Amino acid sequence: MQLSSDGGTATFGPSVRRWREARGLSQRRLAAAVHVSPGWLSRIENGFSEPTMGLARACDEVLGAGGELVALAVVGERDVGLERLPRPAQLPAGAGATFVGRTHELAELDQLLELAARAGTVMTVLIDGLPGAGKTALAVRWAHQVSHRFDGGVLFADLKGFALSGERADPGEVLEGFLLALGVAAGSIPASTAQRAGLMRSLADGRRLLVVVDNAGTYEQVAPLLLGAAGCAVVVTSRRRLRGLTVNDGAVRIALGPMLPEGSIELLTATIGERARLEPESVRLLAQRCGHLPLALRIAAERVVASPRHRVAELASDLIRDSARLDVLAADELAVRSAFSCSYRDLDPEARRTFRLLGLFPGSDIAVEAAAALVDRPSWVARGLLEQLASMHLAEETAWDGWGVHDLLRVYAARLAEEEDPAPERAGAVRRLVEWYVHTADAALHVMGGNRQLPSLASCPPLEPKRFGNPAEAALWFQRESENFTTVARLAVDHRLPGAWELRLWFCSRHRRPTSEWRATWEIERRATRAGDAVAEAGTTRQQDASHAHVADGDWA
Ligand SMILES: Nc1ncnc2c1ncn2[C@@H]1O[C@H](COP(=O)(O)OP(=O)(O)OP(=O)(O)O)[C@@H](O)[C@H]1O
Ligand SMILES: [Mg+2]
Repeated sequence: MQLSSDGGTATFGPSVRRWREARGLSQRRLAAAVHVSPGWLSRIENGFSEPTMGLARACDEVLGAGGELVALAVVGERDVGLERLPRPAQLPAGAGATFVGRTHELAELDQLLELAARAGTVMTVLIDGLPGAGKTALAVRWAHQVSHRFDGGVLFADLKGFALSGERADPGEVLEGFLLALGVAAGSIPASTAQRAGLMRSLADGRRLLVVVDNAGTYEQVAPLLLGAAGCAVVVTSRRRLRGLTVNDGAVRIALGPMLPEGSIELLTATIGERARLEPESVRLLAQRCGHLPLALRIAAERVVASPRHRVAELASDLIRDSARLDVLAADELAVRSAFSCSYRDLDPEARRTFRLLGLFPGSDIAVEAAAALVDRPSWVARGLLEQLASMHLAEETAWDGWGVHDLLRVYAARLAEEEDPAPERAGAVRRLVEWYVHTADAALHVMGGNRQLPSLASCPPLEPKRFGNPAEAALWFQRESENFTTVARLAVDHRLPGAWELRLWFCSRHRRPTSEWRATWEIERRATRAGDAVAEAGTTRQQDASHAHVADGDWA
């Protein structure tokens, strides 16, 4: 129900009155329910006084306004009109100038937007398909093309639905990020996911917002992020066919298969350049051997670029030979894996080792210094090795000096590590990585003037912990790495490193994270306890006490 929508000019007072009347409540009853005097409520309803955020939240809850009243109070509180709120522009660069083909899909998306505009409805689209099919590239490309039509802004979130660490993004946290980007003050963001979703929908009403939700793992993860207002559009990508979206929310599904042969030849040619034009038949063959799958095509193309002395025909026949070797795999997987293995074999031994060891880290992006610890080399050497991997499209540099490896590649790398690196070598790499995190966290706490406790885990200083110039830099590091902390702590537990729980302690004590993350870290500790780390047990009790105190303090509200 939306009672106060009148083209974006609604204000709190009249809206609360409309909601109250719709619910059949007298001013006196509502005033009692939200703990203010009837006179005060009357002043607010008549627009003579502004509500506090707490009162707005209470009214919203009692009247079941789904966040609408909170949204109006947010606007009122900041004394800005909707049109002057920030206009987020969160799209990543995507494939950028290298994007080719997919003309049918782009046209279909355009058409759906027109249809929704004419019908005065929201546009909801699900793009699903194989890993590496180009779902993100397509969604981001289209969003860039039409972003000027969304004057309310463009929001983007990666739900990490298929993260190797198993840690999917929490929709409540994603909503928190969206609301902050839309100008809602941190203190005004409601606690529950449902309330946040309500507030988000209320803010979307009356302005044109485009939301790209990448990598959704389940319907439940994406449902709170959907919008209902005309003029808005939500594009979801997933490796799964999320039936709930089409059945419950009227989403239109675009199933993204491999590229058309012309498109995949175009993709190869765009990267390879002149040599592709000299050997069109080999390029056609190469495209075919890649199953016309963009991820495989990009990797194969980079390999051609990296081998200037070889003919494309030779490189294509390598791929055929490898396909034969890997023929136990399903056809689409085979295309990707054979592209991986050819590129991997072309690397020099140091870069190969780096690639394999990166497979041991199932977190999100890794910082250069952390990678350096993993491979036991100085940072400048590690950077060179990562750049080598990137030149073969086996890794990519992300926005903030971190490096990412596609999860299919990571699984492949982990398998290679298991085959090629003896267990002590693998354990040593994990230990160095964990120690790097511990020492860097310690350095950050030092700069922030925090309470440092040197962990028992760290037996020797790591090569190069990160250095922080000021507390803000250190705090930013904590924030950016918070996800990896959980993963690293788990890795430490899985490798039975003593004192693994201390990582978790740091992590929890530094950051006010949502309850879901606390639960995840408790789970880590339980595992540590089961693994026989007696210290962890004491840590569990201490930390749970501390965390309950936090909750009791209202830290999480
Ligand atoms: N149409 C295209 N033109 C050029 N490059 C493309 C195109 N589509 C995809 N790519 C490239 O192929 C690779 C895989 O694409 P992308 O990451 O979009 O796949 P995805 O389907 O989102 O995969 P995942 O399921 O792993 O998220 C990327 O490097 C991307 O830049
Ligand atoms: Mg993707």
